[in-house]
Amino acid sequence: MFNSKIIGLGKYLPDNVVTNADLEKIMDTSDAWIQERTGIKERRHIAKGSDDSTSLMGVKASKIAIERAGLTPQDIDLILFATLSPDYYFPGSGVLVQEALQIPECPAMDIRMQCSGFVYAVATADQFIKTGMYKNVLVIGSEYHSGGLDMTTRGRNISVIFGDGAGAVVMTRSENNETGILNSQLHSEGKHAKELSLIGPSTGRWVPEIMENNDPDDISYYPYMNGQFVFKNAVVRFSEVIMAGVKKAGWKPENIDMLIPHQANLRISQFVQKKFGLSDTQVYNNIQRYGNTTAASIPIALTEAWEEGKIKEGSKVVLAAFGSGFTWGSVSIQW
Ligand code: ACO
Repeated sequence: MFNSKIIGLGKYLPDNVVTNADLEKIMDTSDAWIQERTGIKERRHIAKGSDDSTSLMGVKASKIAIERAGLTPQDIDLILFATLSPDYYFPGSGVLVQEALQIPECPAMDIRMQCSGFVYAVATADQFIKTGMYKNVLVIGSEYHSGGLDMTTRGRNISVIFGDGAGAVVMTRSENNETGILNSQLHSEGKHAKELSLIGPSTGRWVPEIMENNDPDDISYYPYMNGQFVFKNAVVRFSEVIMAGVKKAGWKPENIDMLIPHQANLRISQFVQKKFGLSDTQVYNNIQRYGNTTAASIPIALTEAWEEGKIKEGSKVVLAAFGSGFTWGSVSIQW
């Protein structure tokens, strides 16, 4: 049986920085409120007129990851693209990456698991590699949120949180079972699907229906979040799923060299850090600079931590996510 490991990482953030002070100018909010509740100071939004899109940001991050892996796009056997904000309703963004990278007929699969998307995608890549079906898998998380948020006071509880960006990793086959992806655990609980959701437009709420109703209070085409309920569930599920992976790996929480939590809210990360008694050097956070980039947040943070030399050979790394669905999961990696 093969094992899988990460051999290349890349990230891409749009240049356009939107600070809390910028948001104060367009909605009733404050830098103090946003920082106190979420830790966020600024985020990136794709600038109006920019060519960037969900797939293009993914392509830019992927090119870096592939080059750092010492491969060329033609070496990639499978693309997994995690996003909740695809370029089109269909087809998925993965095929657009396949075309942009000119990888002939390479299978490309979108993973629609929201904030847990990247963890689900890494677990999926791991399984395809372990069975021997594919050798080199490109795993992307990319989100273009800013175009679809309600940037008025009505949408402030959500729109201040989310940002745009992309991260990517290349995973490959390894014959060493002591290093690489040691375990992954994935969960969902659909009874809470509507607590963090975007209901329409969809097959449950087609565009003509929304237009016919012409109801100014119908905001079903904007994301909805029951913030406090999400927060309460997130801290429990993050803790459970990190512990499950750590135990399966034969580690203790204090052995973790780098925990990369999905950047949902700095308060959630701090809660988890405190619960496991981890120091600031054992947990990576960059939500202060990028906001919550959903499926992109873990690969962006993982890439940054690696670029800063905080993840190196021998590091015990845990990726953990919780999000809409609800869905949650973790991956334990011996680097
Ligand atoms: N600026 C100023 N005031 C605001 C803002 C804002 N941006 N947003 C909401 N408020 C106001 C509300 O209107 C409310 O006012 P009221 O008391 O007069 O009615 C007050 O602030 C408190 O609102 P709550 O929604 O109760 O605020 P809460 O303390 O729950 O914080 C938050 C909101 C930050 C979203 C929090 O619930 C949270 O972090 N939830 C976790 C969810 C999360 O992290 N989501 C990220 C995406 S999901 C994911 O990735 C898992």
